[in-house]
Formats: sequence, structure tokens, C-alpha cells
Amino acid sequence: MKTFPGRFKIAAVLFSLCVFLSLSRHPGVAAESGKAGIDASSLYLHYCSQCHGIGGRGDGINSTPDMAINPRDHTEASFMSTRSDEQFIEIITGGGTRLAKSPLMPSWGSTLSGEEISALVAYLRELCKCRYEGILSHSKLRRVDPDFR
Ligand code: HEC
Repeated sequence: MKTFPGRFKIAAVLFSLCVFLSLSRHPGVAAESGKAGIDASSLYLHYCSQCHGIGGRGDGINSTPDMAINPRDHTEASFMSTRSDEQFIEIITGGGTRLAKSPLMPSWGSTLSGEEISALVAYLRELCKCRYEGILSHSKLRRVDPDFR
């Protein structure tokens, strides 16, 4: 039998390695490796940007003037700081209707794992550069009344 030249053997080994690696990259594996293994910006790009926009400004291709309620601008700190991480987890998992919001915000609980949703919430905090301050935080009240203690 004619043996394959060395180059072919190397190519064959590399090819099977690629097949093995692509098959072993099951999405569940990434989810199990904890937040560090989850690329939240890719998840956002894949599942959220068509409505919320690539940069999170609520200007995705599906966000049109005929939408009864437009997708939230995730960079708007004044609103985003009034919502807790738990509220975000709730609405991402169960959809808009879970918190009496628009049904146009879909539910992701059967598509994304809990770890992926938590990673997305951390990503939302990066987009708004804000954290939960409550509806009336001290810093907000000081904007109205500089002497507020
Ligand atoms: C089909 C369009 C659509 C997609 C896709 C979508 N959303 Fe939304 N989202 C909306 C709309 C519309 C609202 C506004 C709901 C309202 O204010 O009543 C919203 C609101 C939100 C809010 C604000 C909740 C609040 O407290 O007001 C968060 C957070 C959010 N979406 C996260 C996400 C994440 C994360 C994804 C991707 C996993 C996603 N959305 C995908 C349409 C979408």
C-alpha cells in the first residue's frame, strides 16, 4: 500500500483535532465553567442586540417606531440605576410580562443558563456604567437639593 507523504499525515491529524475541538465545545461546558468562562458581550450580540442595539442604546434593527414600547436603552444610567440586579434577572428569565412590562421583551429562561443570565446582568452594568442605587438615592436627591444629608 502506498503511504501518504508526511505533509498529508500532519494535515489529517490537524483536521481531526479541529473536528474534535469543535465537537467538544458544547455550550454547556462554557456555562459550567462559571462566569469567567462566559463571554457576555457575545451573548448580548447574539440574543439581545437585534432589539437593544449593538452598543445597547435601544436602537437595534428590530426597534422600529411602530413598536408599542421600544427596547430599553441599556446605557441610560438614570433609569438603569433604579433597577436591581434581581429585577434584571427576573425580566431576562421570565420576559417582560413577568414584571408587568411589555411582552415584546422575550423570556430567555429556557434558552440561557442562570450563569449566562448573571453574566449578562454584569454586562448591563458595564453598559450603563452604573449600579443599583434605589429609586431615590442620596446622590440623586443631592442633585435636586445640594444640601440633602
Ligand atoms: C424582540 C426584542 C427584544 C429582544 C431580542 C430583547 N429585548 Fe430586552 N426589552 C425589549 C423591550 C421592548 C423592552 C422594554 C420593556 C418595557 O419597558 O416594557 C425590553 C427591556 C429590557 C430590560 C429592561 C427591564 C426593565 O426593568 O425595564 C432589560 C434589562 C432587557 N430588556 C434585557 C434584555 C436582554 C439581556 C436580552 C438578550 C438576552 C434582551 N433584553 C433581548 C425587547 C427585546
